[in-house]
Amino acid sequence: MITRESQQMFNFALTMKRIRIALFISGNGSNARNIINYFENHAQISVGLVLSSAENNQMAEFCAERAILFAHQAGIDSEAYLKFCQEQEIDWVILAGFLKKIPSSFIHAFPHRIMNIHPALLPNFGGKGMYGKHVHEAVAKSSVRFSGITIHLVNEEFDKGKMLAQFALTLQYPTTAEEIERQVRDLEITHFPSVIESVLLDGIL
Ligand code: GAR
Repeated sequence: MITRESQQMFNFALTMKRIRIALFISGNGSNARNIINYFENHAQISVGLVLSSAENNQMAEFCAERAILFAHQAGIDSEAYLKFCQEQEIDWVILAGFLKKIPSSFIHAFPHRIMNIHPALLPNFGGKGMYGKHVHEAVAKSSVRFSGITIHLVNEEFDKGKMLAQFALTLQYPTTAEEIERQVRDLEITHFPSVIESVLLDGIL
């Protein structure tokens, strides 16, 4: 029997729109793939767009199989980014290894709704030119005891937006940039999707 309560729940579920996220990438997209898998069949969050600054046939295919729009946008073009996001009714933008500077006008269009992952413990090893392998090479050279990941909001200064979460790992020397990258990647795969989920659904961690 359909009770009034269950009908109300059903009506609520019908009207509730899932939060739609866009993933911006530049590299091979291992974080993006992991995030897409995590939110597949999620009741409240869905991935609506993957925008890549580089050609990426494998990712294009991966998205096509899941009915997610894949867009290749080589230049820094705020209007093009906005058009893709508006067409897909995007609520949040997640930078998952996106190496182009985000234009101010785009940041203003998504106030406090752009998130980035950085492969080190900010404020150290951040700023212009610090991305991907360059970060791990600098960490290995400096002989610091810890590295890790930082997930933060994006503002107009490189790697300076409000921090949302950090996860650290202890480094054993001797080590190499490649080994640090592997360990950091494990942290990213383990934590990034659930941090996105907590921030989007609860606003807190
Ligand atoms: C990730 O390690 C991410 O933290 C880093 O790029 C990599 C992308 O890998 N981002 C930055 O360096 C941003 N400053 P992926 O394409 O395999 O996900």
